[in-house]
Amino acid sequence: MKIAIINGPNLNLLGTREPGIYGDKSFEAFYEQLKPLFPGVEFSYFQSNVEGELVNELQRVGFEYAGVVINPAAYTHTSVAIGDAIAAITAPVIEVHISNVHAREEFRKISHVSAKAKGTICGLGMKGYELAVHWLVANAGGVFS
Ligand code: DQA
Repeated sequence: MKIAIINGPNLNLLGTREPGIYGDKSFEAFYEQLKPLFPGVEFSYFQSNVEGELVNELQRVGFEYAGVVINPAAYTHTSVAIGDAIAAITAPVIEVHISNVHAREEFRKISHVSAKAKGTICGLGMKGYELAVHWLVANAGGVFS
């Protein structure tokens, strides 16, 4: 089964960006550890700081892949377009946030994505991506191998 992981703006800086909030591991290092946990999954990974590119990627994978894990980062709180793209595609989408957005500034409590996503994981660090993949493998038509 194919699962897409999509990261939004500034997540290319994970590892050095506000490590007290987001940890000290780069996403690339985490991704290399994640992939062997799911040998039956064909992963794709896409990161962009540009809103429309995230919409394009959702449309590209969203009718073909078994599931999508997305951390829209700051666009979570502003992007009607990303919420609409998630509603438009057929693949189930899990929204992930590394930090607990509900325990931070007020504006981070607003999500244009949560209501369109199958579910949301936040506050569990990078582990949230792994838990999201587990759910997709178990529930989105795939099997562990
Ligand atoms: C984030 C939370 C967002 O509020 C923030 O803008 C990010 C990262 C998270 O993973 O905790 O860039 O999505």
